[in-house]
Amino acid sequence: MSYLKQTDPEIYDAIFKEANRQDTKLELIASENFVSEAVLEAAGGVMTNKYAEGYPAKRYYGGCEFVDVAEDLARDRAKQLFGCEHVNVQSHSGSQANMGVYFTALKPGDKVMGLDLACGGHLTHGHPINFSGFLYDFTGYTVDKETEVIDYDKLLETARKVQPKMIVAGASAYPRFWDFEAIRKACDAVGAYMMVDIAHIAGMVAAGEHPSPIPFADFVTTTTHKTLRGPRGGMIMCKEQYAADLDRMVMPGIQGGPLMHVIAAKAVAFKEALTDEFKVYQKRVVANAAALAASLMEKGHRLVSGGTDTHLMLMNFIDIPKVSGKKVEKALDKAGITANKNTVPFDPEKPFVTSGVRIGTPAITTRGMNVEDMPVIADFIDRAIQNRRKDEVLEGIAGEVAEFCRKFPLYPERTKG
Ligand SMILES: Cc1ncc(COP(=O)(O)O)c(C=O)c1O
Repeated sequence: MSYLKQTDPEIYDAIFKEANRQDTKLELIASENFVSEAVLEAAGGVMTNKYAEGYPAKRYYGGCEFVDVAEDLARDRAKQLFGCEHVNVQSHSGSQANMGVYFTALKPGDKVMGLDLACGGHLTHGHPINFSGFLYDFTGYTVDKETEVIDYDKLLETARKVQPKMIVAGASAYPRFWDFEAIRKACDAVGAYMMVDIAHIAGMVAAGEHPSPIPFADFVTTTTHKTLRGPRGGMIMCKEQYAADLDRMVMPGIQGGPLMHVIAAKAVAFKEALTDEFKVYQKRVVANAAALAASLMEKGHRLVSGGTDTHLMLMNFIDIPKVSGKKVEKALDKAGITANKNTVPFDPEKPFVTSGVRIGTPAITTRGMNVEDMPVIADFIDRAIQNRRKDEVLEGIAGEVAEFCRKFPLYPERTKG
């Protein structure tokens, strides 16, 4: 029996349809994933009822003995997973984790460097419409025009000119490995803090599939819901010397009560991420991305930087007249393929139009899709783009996609009426 179905049939219906949408479509949004039933159970549990302002054993409320267990486990497991000195698991989101670091280390008006949004950087890395852009004086660094890979010599040169108080590494749409040692050198050259936002690559870092920034960075932030495959939320890691200031800034500086049900679910996800199975999963994510990139390029599609080292790739339509990221996203959607439009380096189009589409493999890999399935997916994508103006062809592809997805059942208990 479903309590929700009886109490609120409209929300029940929306959730049921969302489960079926996830099940019957190809989820290629690089920042999404499918959490386990155990993570869902913890996130939907009674810890949502508890106020627990403060930190384990130092709360402003009584009755925290069991939520303390959850938060201690989340912190211990995160430390084990990433090998960090200190961690704060309370940030409600990736954006709030970044705010936590900026507020700890910077003053309004300070100079900061971050990857340009058009080259893959995130809104919270200094975009003028975001708090980071309102409060701090950001200068963007870019990728090289030819290779479309970050030019670390130029980054150092810019750092010497700008003299930032902090350099932010990390991205939402950058398909190549980061050279964290080079960023540390630039920080040391100008006496800047080094912050790395690993929101996208956290799962790969945890599994050793991407170099770790932990030995180099002062602060490392992440979301917990992307490649890390946990509940929606954020987390901050830092060197011990910043721990007390950071914790004070997260609570009471920025937040009130922590989301204890989400922190419990983070602990569950971290336990899962410590398994050998998760390491194998991350290897498959990367292998699938490489195979999908190769198949798309074989079909003549241009990818930013000529491929990927990670879980994502960016299709680049900058040279194709009348094709935009917006149009391709729409065509893919009609064909049962969910992806998002994205700017590509030096994109002349606005962020709402763009000349690219971002594609990632974390979610389809969780469903069980493997390297041999990637040419099939590349074929769906290619045909959808070629037939972007023909709705009946796109509908036909959507049928094929749904049939293909049936081989990889998702949440079977939740997709039955
Ligand atoms: C690199 C990066 N940092 C931060 C965030 C923000 O995370 P949230 O959406 O949880 O605020 C994102 C989200 O896409 C991201 O890609």
